[in-house]
Amino acid sequence: MATTTIQVQISDAELKLLQSLIYQECGMYFDERRAHFLQDRLQRRLKHCGLDSFYSYYRLLTTREGKPELAALLENLTVNETSFFRNKPQIELFHKTLLEDLLKRKQERRDWTLRLWSAGCSTGQEAYTMAMLVCDALAYYYLRNPLPFEMPSPKPLIPPPWKVEILASDINYSVLRLAQEGMFSATSMEPVDYPYRLRYFDKVGDGYAVKKSLKEMVHFDFHNLKTEYLPPRNDVIFCRNVMIYFDEAEQKRLVEKFHRCLSPDGYLLLGHAESLFGLSDKYKMIHQNNGTAYQKIEVNG
Ligand SMILES: C[S@@+](CC[C@H](N)C(=O)[O-])C[C@H]1O[C@@H](n2cnc3c(N)ncnc32)[C@H](O)[C@@H]1O
Repeated sequence: MATTTIQVQISDAELKLLQSLIYQECGMYFDERRAHFLQDRLQRRLKHCGLDSFYSYYRLLTTREGKPELAALLENLTVNETSFFRNKPQIELFHKTLLEDLLKRKQERRDWTLRLWSAGCSTGQEAYTMAMLVCDALAYYYLRNPLPFEMPSPKPLIPPPWKVEILASDINYSVLRLAQEGMFSATSMEPVDYPYRLRYFDKVGDGYAVKKSLKEMVHFDFHNLKTEYLPPRNDVIFCRNVMIYFDEAEQKRLVEKFHRCLSPDGYLLLGHAESLFGLSDKYKMIHQNNGTAYQKIEVNG
């Protein structure tokens, strides 16, 4: 027997109300190209809540009791595509050039803490990639620049007195849970070369589990990039394939906020299809072998 689903019609006014609520809450902007996706997700949530109009749904979202539904709606609207070692040329630039420069500058100042942030981390592949590369770069740097500190046994991933703090944040609790679990399928591990698999993962059944020592380097947390507060003093911020869903005004606000929460000469890495062109002149572009990053320029006043 065929079943018919009756769809509640959404008026232009209701769509606008919901669009602007979503924009205010998380910065995601749904233009005409993405309106169909938005309507589809709204229909699903309306059905889930058992409501008969989009206006009632809007009213629910704006109440205190509607907060969990608002979070569920935002989760349904995010695109969470990600992968390990995404954008190889940029990853190479980070690994070979930016980290080397950072470690050198830090050592000169006897500042032994590296702070990195994966903003919009999805299921964690980006943050774990950063962690693996920092361990690698630091081990190589340490060999050439040993320090008179006793090496604990067993040898830690991060040689003393260096400290590495990686914050990985997202607006979507479901992806954060998966990221924290750190279990990855064989397919998602394809971009991870054998030596990295061996060093940083345990084979568990058909999948791979991130080793405890690497996991401990990354702190996963909920954070909405739309809010004014951003974690301070970051040496590197990866915010890749996130701004692409924001409109220009929100992108400008975000890169301004990033500027304030980067350490002097810190680096900002954006997605392949994103750039600071027309958004800010407070960063210097670094382009090397098809990899791009932006370095903070100190601005007086
Ligand atoms: C396409 S994924 C990118 C993942 C990773 N950065 C990468 O490039 O592989 C975009 C992520 O940004 C998150 N996101 C979207 N809007 C956000 C916001 N306002 N605050 C924090 N995270 C947000 C989404 O939940 C999603 O997980």
